[in-house]
Amino acid sequence: MNAVLKPLEAQLEAMTPAWLDVVTAVESRAYEHPWSRGNFTDSLNSGYQALLLTAGSDANTTLLAYFVAMKGVDEVHLLNITVSPEHQRQGWGRVMLDALAIWSRQQGAQWLWLEVRVSNTHASDVYRHYGFNQVGVRRNYYPHSTAGSQVREDAIVMSFAL
Ligand SMILES: CC(C)(COP(=O)(O)OP(=O)(O)OC[C@H]1O[C@@H](n2cnc3c(N)ncnc32)[C@H](O)[C@@H]1OP(=O)(O)O)[C@@H](O)C(=O)NCCC(=O)NCCS
Repeated sequence: MNAVLKPLEAQLEAMTPAWLDVVTAVESRAYEHPWSRGNFTDSLNSGYQALLLTAGSDANTTLLAYFVAMKGVDEVHLLNITVSPEHQRQGWGRVMLDALAIWSRQQGAQWLWLEVRVSNTHASDVYRHYGFNQVGVRRNYYPHSTAGSQVREDAIVMSFAL
């Protein structure tokens, strides 16, 4: 009998405080300078849009990805987008950007904005490939440790016309 290949079923859901143990565990594996639990709590308390992409159900639920975004006047600022390390480079980042773009259009936004570390070439390639353009550089925007010393790293500012 031929095996029937089932696509991985994933669903979007709201990030709630109950998810923060799982979210912060992924966050610390994904970044050298991760957001703290307080950063996520503040974002939820501020009413920012925070969505999770999960697969499976109940005890077998896997967190694939999440984003946090803040609505401005005619733009949405993407504050955090993360795909769990073991699920990166499989298209889930693009799925999250699609979900972000759909929500942002529903809000009447005309632009998406984000910052990305100069050294994060995978993320900036993904954004460029999606259609973002570089619109500026913020000097010394991010903390950065190198050889034990604390220095700062520039951010590339990118925007996407909705
Ligand atoms: C950055 C991140 C969110 C991207 O998500 P991802 O799931 O790895 O990316 P995807 O697999 O969805 O790639 C998206 C697209 O970019 C394309 N792409 C990736 N690298 C590319 C490159 N060098 N050149 C051209 N296209 C590229 C992919 O082919 C894909 O295109 P497709 O959907 O048409 O096939 C994820 O890698 C991540 O969480 N990284 C760690 C945390 C981080 O850096 N977050 C961003 C902080 S600003």
